[in-house]
Amino acid sequence: MKEPKTYFIRTYGCQMNELDTEVMRGQLEKRGLKWLENEAEVDLLIFNTCSIRDLAERKVMGKLGLLAKKKNSDQIVGVTGCMANAKKESLFKKMPHVHFVLGTNDLHTLNDTLDTLLATGSKGIGIQKHFTEELDYIGAKRDDKLKAYISIIRGCNKYCTYCIVPYTRGPEVSRAPEDIIQECKILASKGYKEITLLGQNVNSYGKDNASFNCLFHDLLYKLDAIDGIERIRFMTSHPVDITRQLMEAIRDLPSLCEFIHFPVQSGSSRILKKMHRIYTLEQYLEKVALLKEIVPNAALGTDIIVGFPTETHEDFMETYKVLEHIEYSVAFLFAYSERKGTPATRFKDTIPEEVKQERLQMLIQLQDGIYKKQRQALIGSTQEVLVERASTRNPHLLKGRTRCWKNAIFPGDASLIGSLASIYVDDFTHQTLVGRKVEEPLSLIS
Ligand code: 5AD
Ligand code: SF4
Repeated sequence: MKEPKTYFIRTYGCQMNELDTEVMRGQLEKRGLKWLENEAEVDLLIFNTCSIRDLAERKVMGKLGLLAKKKNSDQIVGVTGCMANAKKESLFKKMPHVHFVLGTNDLHTLNDTLDTLLATGSKGIGIQKHFTEELDYIGAKRDDKLKAYISIIRGCNKYCTYCIVPYTRGPEVSRAPEDIIQECKILASKGYKEITLLGQNVNSYGKDNASFNCLFHDLLYKLDAIDGIERIRFMTSHPVDITRQLMEAIRDLPSLCEFIHFPVQSGSSRILKKMHRIYTLEQYLEKVALLKEIVPNAALGTDIIVGFPTETHEDFMETYKVLEHIEYSVAFLFAYSERKGTPATRFKDTIPEEVKQERLQMLIQLQDGIYKKQRQALIGSTQEVLVERASTRNPHLLKGRTRCWKNAIFPGDASLIGSLASIYVDDFTHQTLVGRKVEEPLSLIS
């Protein structure tokens, strides 16, 4: 086996995985490897995987199975991420052509694992339960030059009964505030304008380490003070840990976008209890009402699972009503997928797949109507847009996002890329607001 010259990483799952891929890319490029987007040709191929639902795992197992049949014998294959933690050594048995398996808490050992593999031929495995070693985020290889993901806390202590994350990523570990601040200052000096703070539950930030003396809202105040960072977002939150202080920070900090992911999961308090979400629907709605009182223009996001074991039609209709009532700006809708090793397996997966799909479709339709209504309501308003790039189809059209995550497109010069523009919204297409820069003559957009 010889030193690889080229590499490719296929990423599945959440934003944290995307960031982990960027960190691994930094490590590999330091070693001298070059990115090559060709799974068949590349010397080192890594699958950075997700275990959240069965489909995510099946996609990777399918890819690995195909690869076994046609892979060139010199290619090194690695599996990283949550599936590595979930499947452990069994991955080598099922897929003997895999050379290393590194879980989310062992990614810092990537180059050492490769060294050992090249020197001795022995397969590498790292599947620690706890996150003990911070990654080299500053050395990460990022393709985006304006927006960056920042890891602030890894792992989860919530143990929702359906969720595999606490078992794959392990318990919560917050990152030192000074490291986060240093990284954000470096990014700002390189011209980055928007940061998204990442964690399975960012609202728990700092609770696991009293010596930081810094909770989530404290961190936000420190980051808002950094010159050059125009926008701060965060993903994701557990409703129980969303505090009044956080809501006030959203109201008061200019860079903090008025968007909050507030995942309800179900509208039925009975199901919420079985999910171990530790709130009732009433408590959830009270918190949403408080948010709306403190930040009236806040946009909300949600995650919803339909077909959780024992969910009746009445339970489902309560979820339907919540979606209808709150009118989320972003809704991620899922059918329950039983995960081996999670407490919900004891309830058995009782809802037939067709029923889950029927319920899912009902929510998708409802939410599509809500998206349309929301875009319609923005016609005639002026929105702040971070200009991200020119349209691939028409270089005279620029694309970006509003503070509340809506896509926007408008005519303009490429010199505006990287700046914040005020966009008057004239119209919308299926996914996108269509507008013009404020003060620009109407004729330009026809
Ligand atoms: N089945 C379906 N959806 C799930 N999620 C987490 N675990 C499961 C599961 N077993 C969803 C939740 C969570 C989002 C990231 O994924 O809605 O908020
Ligand atoms: Fe999973 Fe619940 Fe933790 Fe979110 S809060 S990662 S759904 S256990």
